[in-house]
Amino acid sequence: MKIGFFDSGLGGLTILKAVAAALPDYDYEFYGDTANLPYGDKSEAEIFALTKAGVLHLLQRDCALIIIACNTASAETLRQLQDTILTDEYESRRLLGVIIPTIEEVLASDLSSVALIGTKRTIDSGKYDLEFAKADSQVQLITMATPELVPLIEVGNLEAANVSVHISVEQFRAAGAEGLILGCTHYTLLKENLRKAFDSEFRIFSQDEIIPAKLMDYLARHGEMETTLTRGGKRTIYLTNTDACYDRAIASLLGGIPLLD
Ligand code: DGL
Repeated sequence: MKIGFFDSGLGGLTILKAVAAALPDYDYEFYGDTANLPYGDKSEAEIFALTKAGVLHLLQRDCALIIIACNTASAETLRQLQDTILTDEYESRRLLGVIIPTIEEVLASDLSSVALIGTKRTIDSGKYDLEFAKADSQVQLITMATPELVPLIEVGNLEAANVSVHISVEQFRAAGAEGLILGCTHYTLLKENLRKAFDSEFRIFSQDEIIPAKLMDYLARHGEMETTLTRGGKRTIYLTNTDACYDRAIASLLGGIPLLD
């Protein structure tokens, strides 16, 4: 059985890349809904239907554990999917999101004020605020939807995306933020530039750096899941829409990790 990754597009490959680098032996399958990207401005019902289709695909393809790497889908669908899809034949499968692990990482950092950027849907869902509140946290969360970033990153215009995110970070710092959560799979591609531009005191929380350790910890605590996972080192990518330009993007996002299918 494999570990599956769901994302609305290619951005989630950055999370798969980091996980597969930390845990190279397992078999992985990635589902990128490139035909329907972006999710960030879709309705909750649309996001649920699309995410459900992707998760069912991964379940049918023998994924025992599925990570919804997309923040927008995690925010809008995770709990409902866990409650409705993981029944009967899929009862022993597990579905995890990226929001709670990210919040745990922020809480462990002892910062008192953190900014969050994400898609309009992620920010409007209030999911991060809710989970911080549930954890009884005193962290002040400053949120901002940055809908301009995904289209820029998708077409490879990182320069414009960097300019835009720097302006937002200046505002967050002026408001007292000590760190920034990159609350969207695509934004991991902005972290290096942000770290160069701002001093290291300003923490950047990037999910490709958070999820691998959280997954290792999860597997160590869930032996019943770990033992169902096969160790062929296989990676499979399924995209709902393919385009010649994706080949380059996939090669650059996955770096040295081979695609076997
Ligand atoms: N993958 C989505 C996320 O992490 C962002 C891209 C989109 O709008 O579909 O929120």
